[in-house]
Amino acid sequence: MEPRVGEPRVGGPGIGGVGARWLQRSEVAADARFFGLGGRASGPRLRDGVYRLWNTDPGGSFEPGDDPLYLTMPVQLVVADAGTHLVFHDNSWDGTVTLREGQEGAGSGHDRPGYCRTRMDGGPLRYWVIVGTTPARVLHGWAALTGAPAVPPRWALGHHHARWGFHDAEEVRRVVAGYRERDLPLSALHLDIDHLSGHRVFTVDGARFPDLPGLAAELLEDGVRLVSIVDPAVKAEPGNAVYESGAADDVFVRDARGREVRGEVWAGESAYPDFTDPRVRTWWGGLYAERLAQGFSGVWHDMNEPVSFAAFGETTLPRSARHALEGRGGDHREAHNVYGLAMARAGYEGLCQLRPDERPFLFSRSGWAGLQRYGGSWSGDVATGWAGLRASLSLVIGLGLSGVPYSGPDIGGFTGFPSPELYLRWFQLGAYLPLFRTHSAISAGRREPWEFGSRVLEHAAAALRERQRLLPYFTTLAQLAARTGAPYVRPVWWRTPKDRALRDCEDAFLLGDALLVAPVLEEGARRRAVRLPRGRWYDTVTGRAYDGPGQVVLDAPLSGIPVLARAGSVVPVAAPDGGVELEVWTPYQGRKGAGTGTLAVDTGDGWEKPELLRFTTRLRDGEVTVEREGGGEVGYPIRVRGEAPPSDDRRGPRTS
Ligand code: GLC
Repeated sequence: MEPRVGEPRVGGPGIGGVGARWLQRSEVAADARFFGLGGRASGPRLRDGVYRLWNTDPGGSFEPGDDPLYLTMPVQLVVADAGTHLVFHDNSWDGTVTLREGQEGAGSGHDRPGYCRTRMDGGPLRYWVIVGTTPARVLHGWAALTGAPAVPPRWALGHHHARWGFHDAEEVRRVVAGYRERDLPLSALHLDIDHLSGHRVFTVDGARFPDLPGLAAELLEDGVRLVSIVDPAVKAEPGNAVYESGAADDVFVRDARGREVRGEVWAGESAYPDFTDPRVRTWWGGLYAERLAQGFSGVWHDMNEPVSFAAFGETTLPRSARHALEGRGGDHREAHNVYGLAMARAGYEGLCQLRPDERPFLFSRSGWAGLQRYGGSWSGDVATGWAGLRASLSLVIGLGLSGVPYSGPDIGGFTGFPSPELYLRWFQLGAYLPLFRTHSAISAGRREPWEFGSRVLEHAAAALRERQRLLPYFTTLAQLAARTGAPYVRPVWWRTPKDRALRDCEDAFLLGDALLVAPVLEEGARRRAVRLPRGRWYDTVTGRAYDGPGQVVLDAPLSGIPVLARAGSVVPVAAPDGGVELEVWTPYQGRKGAGTGTLAVDTGDGWEKPELLRFTTRLRDGEVTVEREGGGEVGYPIRVRGEAPPSDDRRGPRTS
């Protein structure tokens, strides 16, 4: 049965008339599953419920049941036996999506189809449907519609350490020295609002950070880059240069009577730039010159839902606030959900202008469809706890299926004090996610890997080293995401969406085509069940082969989470001498067993489009061969891994 999409039943007058509410109901096949809708803590499979479309800072921290969060998107992926399709309502107004999964063989043996009801408070009924045979094709279409994901600079794929509450430059030096002394790789250190003067955006507290450019240069000698938080709200006070320049240029959001709208954020009473105005974006983009002069290499956009602290009511701008909306004019009802997206555009375009030879590094808490053109995102203030760990994975997978492939959680959780075990399991998961960053609130415990005892340090160090080794694979996945829209982190059903058991599997993921990562999400677990897609998979620690589809139970000691490699995959990894080598996982015997892999040749952090080398591997007469597509030398050392072709009795246990 074809999934049925559409069939609008529009309630109320004025279809498409701005300000008119409407409702659309679509039916889906009884076996269909829903995914997407931006960053949701309770996914990745979106179960029956009402999901709001209104970017929201939950305040404090969030748990899996909290909805909506910072980055909502009216885009959903529907996966069924009949095919995969994506529906995007091109409408940024407040709304809800009500999902109801169908049921097969419901009531007297008949299937009950599922449905999706989209209700919008206004704006046009204008939607896109992308229908394809596979999730990969559908996501390719989505990227063609909303833009190719920005490729982060290479260093942004290494480990980042952040904290709200670094007291001063000395503390920053101590943390970086801690990594160096223990020989732990560190790519970037993030400065939160504490380094600002009175929390004012685009300033520096000169007493605590007397020579930020000097500090940045010093850290860079150790290969560590500085990343700066950037909040949109500008403290509204005379003498604040950013405010004065903005007021002179009339960049701030006004109310219907023409008065500046004021809100309350970290720095105090603040005004909000109207990023939906191209003129304002140009002004804002120019301000990043100050960040670059301070030595920052990248930016972290926060509080851009946008947030205004309020004891009662909504913690954002009033709905009546006026916005340019690219010249059309309108109010916050329409601009709210695209505020973070437009801010990302301003920052990204500013950085491109100011430092044209380097790709910007930008990630943002809020956003909307298309955010990927400018950068990535992160979990926001995920609560410390095993439930928060699970929510972290849900967010990353869901954002990827919504078109934003680069994201990651606050490792250890934003709040409180994770147990050593929880911290370690979070760290081990984070090592396989695009944004690999430890971060926490000012009131929370430390997150340095050596703060949790020698055993955690040893195992976290192993995760860090493995991430370093996989960097050529991550940089390749970043390039593939830009060219195909495929996220780095994919649900396990990505290549086999008809496998219904996999559609319901939420505790593991594919990293690219080659790896299947099965994080430990439960306290005390030292073994875990792993559901395998079709094909042969090797345990990357033991090299032992298992054949899917089916479920196996694997060891998951504290020293590492199960990671499996697909037979025949060619994974580019860092060689011990610093170059790149190809890790080849023994393919099946014969022509049909051929495997493949890709390497994006390193071209630095500029705009040059790297060549993609594709390799094919085969097993012939017990020998593994690798060829470069299109001929020519392979050009890289090859390391074959995985058991020699197993006779049947050497295959792993199949439990189902
Ligand atoms: C918000 C951010 C968090 C940051 C804090 C202070 O809560 O989500 O990451 O540390 O603000 O800037």
